Amino acid sequence: MTPMPAPTPQSTSHIPTTRHSNAVQDAADNNKAMAATPKLSATNLKFYYGAFEALHGITMQVYDKRVTAFIGPSGCGKSTFLRTLNRMHETIRTSRVEGQILLDGGDIFQLEVSALRRRIGMVFQRPNPFPKSIYDNIAYGPRINGMTKSKSEVNDKVEQSLRRAALWEEAKDKLHESAYSLSGGQQQRLCIARALAVDPEVLLLDEPCSALDPIATAKIEDLIFQLKDSCTIVIVTHSMQQAARVADFTGFFLLGNLIEFDSTTVIFKNPAKKETEDYITGRFG
Ligand SMILES: Nc1ncnc2c1ncn2[C@@H]1O[C@H](COP(=O)(O)OP(=O)(O)OP(=O)(O)O)[C@@H](O)[C@H]1O
Ligand SMILES: [Mg+2]
Repeated sequence: MTPMPAPTPQSTSHIPTTRHSNAVQDAADNNKAMAATPKLSATNLKFYYGAFEALHGITMQVYDKRVTAFIGPSGCGKSTFLRTLNRMHETIRTSRVEGQILLDGGDIFQLEVSALRRRIGMVFQRPNPFPKSIYDNIAYGPRINGMTKSKSEVNDKVEQSLRRAALWEEAKDKLHESAYSLSGGQQQRLCIARALAVDPEVLLLDEPCSALDPIATAKIEDLIFQLKDSCTIVIVTHSMQQAARVADFTGFFLLGNLIEFDSTTVIFKNPAKKETEDYITGRFG
């Protein structure tokens, strides 16, 4: 991918990139991110479930402190690729990976897996809080990682994480109630807070809003927008509007291949590949 010319702000598309009100500034920001060492770099990544090859050699970069979205039809390998980035696939006995993934230039397969997952957190499509209190859901990670020594440090971490996930105001008076007493959208923000509590460098989000109403979705999108100051974010979404709203970069997957990867503005307003254009204009998928 070569440095991007600044797109014209009046460029037309049926998908508004509403967050990106200053397209010239966005292009400059993206070029800056691309000039630095990528946070994650995958090279010729192949993934097998038994004999089935689900990813056919993915090469792409995830840029530091930016939001990258993966889009594409169901079954094309988005979740498979996302899970591989923090080695979540290793729980699937028949799975096998070929190729390379680097985190800050170092091979992720050489890291201790718990250390990797502390640096790269993940939030799944369905909220999956632990059957514990709201407080204990958040406190668990910092405690087992030895990040908090005293009760007041734990309290601070719980408050800070809930604030970062925009849940503090709704949860502060019921911290010791079960996490299941929260609504679905609140539970999803709790899972994000839990992931944030160990200060990850990268957050992987697999369709985090698919079960949520538009208000809860908007809260999570706001949160993603704020988090990218401190965290690199990769989000899988079926909503092209969502990708267009939150992502700086977008990758389009199809049948186990990464068809096109570029700045979100380019993908939605001027894609290079016909398959991408067909997908974003709703001609297939
Ligand atoms: N645990 C598994 N065992 C065997 N095959 C799997 C497994 N998980 C996924 N697959 C297959 O791998 C391919 C990619 O699946 P994946 O879940 O990555 O797609 P996806 O793009 O995330 O789809 P969706 O948008 O529906 O979530 C599909 O053909 C799927 O059937
Ligand atoms: Mg998926």
